[in-house]
Amino acid sequence: MNPQVIPYSHSIPQLCIECASELHYALWKIKMMDFFQTIHARQSVRAYQAKPVEAEHLEAILSAANQAPSAGNLQAFEVVVVRDPGMIQTLTNACFNQGFVAQAPVVLVFCADTARSGAKYGAMGEQLYSVQDATIATAYAQLAATAMGLATCWIGAYREEDISKLLELRAELRPVAMLPVGWPNETPPRLPRRALGEIAREYPPARA
Ligand SMILES: Cc1cc2nc3c(=O)[nH]c(=O)nc-3n(C[C@H](O)[C@H](O)[C@H](O)COP(=O)(O)O)c2cc1C
Repeated sequence: MNPQVIPYSHSIPQLCIECASELHYALWKIKMMDFFQTIHARQSVRAYQAKPVEAEHLEAILSAANQAPSAGNLQAFEVVVVRDPGMIQTLTNACFNQGFVAQAPVVLVFCADTARSGAKYGAMGEQLYSVQDATIATAYAQLAATAMGLATCWIGAYREEDISKLLELRAELRPVAMLPVGWPNETPPRLPRRALGEIAREYPPARA
């Protein structure tokens, strides 16, 4: 088949059949789960194989993060991609020595760009919207990784100042989540969820 011709896939609705970019071709080659399968398949995996994550997978993950909604479409976040094993080990130490992080061939550090959102929305942008932008981008990245069979674990426990220093982040960037990404080396038991009736309620309450 001519690699420039990309069949439209219903499971990748943002695929453009006209631009024939390398990334879109890579996406087409990667077998992906459907949406609800992906949502239910995602779980925190804390053991990774000693196997690299290919550039096309990484690009697909970042591309998914780039599709996340953001306040005013400012996309007030940046992702630092760390592949250097020495740096990953150092970051791991700053994550209160959560040793499994160092097994991952790549760690993504999602940072809120407080100034970018703050310039438009003031304190709300600095303190809330930029953090929300970075957080939802992390979630999209995590689901994209899952859809391709990759494993991740959301890391929120770290010394923020240490991460900022290690990655030489600009003052306005605030690390809000880290994602080690790798091929899974364990199948953890699924953790239970609260009942829907506990987390959602109608307002005003339905009368009996
Ligand atoms: C904000 C946040 C912070 C988290 N921080 C960590 C962490 O530092 N280390 C870790 O191993 N897991 C961390 N997790 C993963 C949770 O423990 C996990 O999502 C939760 O137990 C549910 O399990 P599941 O992801 O397998 O469904 C974090 C998750 C979130 C959303």
